[in-house]
Amino acid sequence: MEFVTYEVKDRVGIITINREKALNALNSQVLDELSEAFDGVDQSQIRCLVLTGAGEKSFVAGADIGEMSSLTKAEGEAFGKKGNDLFRKIETFPIPVIAAVNGFALGGGCEISMSCDIRICSDNAVFGQPEVGLGITPGFGGTQRLARLVSPGMAKQLIYTARNIKADEAYRIGLVNQVVPAAELMDTVLKMASTIAANAPIAVRNCKKAINDGLQVDMDKAVVIEEKLFGDCFETEDQKAAMANFLEKDKEKKLKVVPFNNR
Ligand code: CAA
Repeated sequence: MEFVTYEVKDRVGIITINREKALNALNSQVLDELSEAFDGVDQSQIRCLVLTGAGEKSFVAGADIGEMSSLTKAEGEAFGKKGNDLFRKIETFPIPVIAAVNGFALGGGCEISMSCDIRICSDNAVFGQPEVGLGITPGFGGTQRLARLVSPGMAKQLIYTARNIKADEAYRIGLVNQVVPAAELMDTVLKMASTIAANAPIAVRNCKKAINDGLQVDMDKAVVIEEKLFGDCFETEDQKAAMANFLEKDKEKKLKVVPFNNR
C-alpha cells in the first residue's frame, strides 16, 4: 500500500495514514487502503488497534479537497458512501480502535476519529468541521456522530460556524478522552492499548458490541442485548479461569496473568 502502513506491537496493531505531504488528507486511494488494512487485521491475535497519522503536524486534514472539487452530485454521494462505509467498518470493528490524534483533525479527520472507540490527542491537535466554508456538509458521518458524541446543540454550533477548536476545548466538550503533550502521545496510547489487550478479549469485544448496539435501540431492547452478550461470556475459558483465580484467594495466583484465550 502506498499511503497506509500497518505494524504490530505485541497484541496491538497500529494503522498509520501516511500521506504527510497532503497532511494525510483522505482521497479515494487512502480510503481504499484503509479499508484493506482493517480487512487484513488478524483478529485472532490482535486485541486493540491504534489509528494515527504520519508526521507531527496532522492526524488527517480532511477529505481530499482537490479530488472533491470536480465531483458531480452522484459522485459526491458515492464519495460520501465510500467514507461512510469505511467509518462504519471502523466503528463496528470487533476489537477496540483508539485514535491517536497527532495534530489537525479537520472535516473527514475529525469524522474518522469519531468512528474510533476512544480519542486521545496531542496538545497541538485542532478539531473542526470546516465543510460549510467549502460549500458542503460534513460527509463522512460528521453530522451524525458529532451530535451523538458531544450534544446536538454543540455539534450544530461547531458545524454551522465551521470554527476549529483546540485540544483543550475538544476535551471540555467531551470530543476527546484525554489530551497529552505531543511527545507523549504514542506512549500514552500504546499503554492504554496494552491495558485493553491484557483483558479478556471476548469480554472486551462483547462490551464494544453491547455499547454500540445498545445505543441504537431503546433501553428495554438495550438491556436484552447486554444480557445476551453477558451470557455469552460464560462459555469462555477466560471467565472460568479469571473467576477461579479470584475465588482461590491465593494472592499470587489471583494476581497471575490469566491465560486469556480466544474462543
Ligand atoms: N485536501 C487536500 N489537500 C490538503 C488538505 C485537504 N483536506 N489539507 C491540506 N492539504 C494539502 C495542501 O493543499 C498542501 O498541499 P501543497 O503543499 O501541495 O500545496 C499541504 O496539504 C499542506 O497544507 P497547507 O500548506 O495548507 O498547510 P498549513 O499549515 O498552511 O495549513 C491546514 C494547514 C489549516 C490544515 C490547511 O491545510 C487546511 O485548512 N486544510 C483543509 C482543511 C479542511 O478544510 N478539511 C475539510 C475538508 S472537507 C471534508 O473533509 C468533507 C467531508 O466531511 C468528507
